[in-house]
Amino acid sequence: MTSGTAANYPSLAGQIVVVTGGASGIGGEMAAQFASQGARVFALDIDIAAGQALAAQCNAAGGTGGGTIAFRSCDVTDCAALQAAILAIGSEHGRIDTLVNNAANDTRHDWRTLTPDAWDACMNVNLRHHFFASQAAHPFLKAAGGGSIICLGSISWLNGTTGMVGYTTAKSAIHGLVRTLARLFGPDSIRVNALLPGWTMTERQRKLWVDAAADAEIAAKQALPGKVEPADVARLALFLAAADARMCTQQVFVVDGGWI
Ligand SMILES: NC(=O)c1ccc[n+]([C@@H]2O[C@H](COP(=O)([O-])OP(=O)(O)OC[C@H]3O[C@@H](n4cnc5c(N)ncnc54)[C@H](O)[C@@H]3O)[C@@H](O)[C@H]2O)c1
Repeated sequence: MTSGTAANYPSLAGQIVVVTGGASGIGGEMAAQFASQGARVFALDIDIAAGQALAAQCNAAGGTGGGTIAFRSCDVTDCAALQAAILAIGSEHGRIDTLVNNAANDTRHDWRTLTPDAWDACMNVNLRHHFFASQAAHPFLKAAGGGSIICLGSISWLNGTTGMVGYTTAKSAIHGLVRTLARLFGPDSIRVNALLPGWTMTERQRKLWVDAAADAEIAAKQALPGKVEPADVARLALFLAAADARMCTQQVFVVDGGWI
């Protein structure tokens, strides 16, 4: 499929969308795709250079579809800064329609030498901010008359991955968080879902970990040939944020080429 054949979602036009980790990788692709649907995207990230470049590129293109990307420097492990950023965006626009909790760090670590501090840091960058961003966004999603929270999980805790026990533990907890928040926020018409990518070919993955052995593993484990690209994951995020998904909540949606 090419971008020319991708779906358009009229209900995304004009949406206020917050994407954490929205400067690069899957988050950057999601930011660009939401903007191309006419949404006003706020990308929060620690990578200032990448965030500014993405926003400049998208906005110079006239925000294909009328949307824009505004980059805000923000470390999601700093809960006060994260909540202040969301409060500023929500207050400025009177609402938030979609929150994508995407920021993460999948640096590999040896379980034998993992320290309590490193464990906590892993939870903070991969799990804690999902809750605190959702907590801060809730009043603005409610003010919008309802909305969508999309939490990026991972298939890694379901497929036997062993090289990053803190990361896989954090990612599995997102499942429980999503199911609980869906119940807590449901009465306000706020939908909460988990989106689980398979092994997705971001710049970071290609640079650090995708070698010939990885190619062979992907070919052996996926039901489908080919590789999962960031655009494949972003397209499901568009659907989950759109009115088309108005009765989808509390669920896990997987884009892994049929791995788990
Ligand atoms: N790429 C994959 O194969 C894969 C597989 C399964 C799940 N995922 C999940 O998808 C999501 C996106 O993954 P990705 O591969 O695009 O990651 P990535 O590492 O390519 O990009 C992550 C982004 O988050 C930002 N970030 C990191 N720490 C941050 C912090 N403390 N504060 C703010 N921003 C921060 C980075 O700067 C970067 O822009 C993550 O939640 C990841 O766990 C990815």
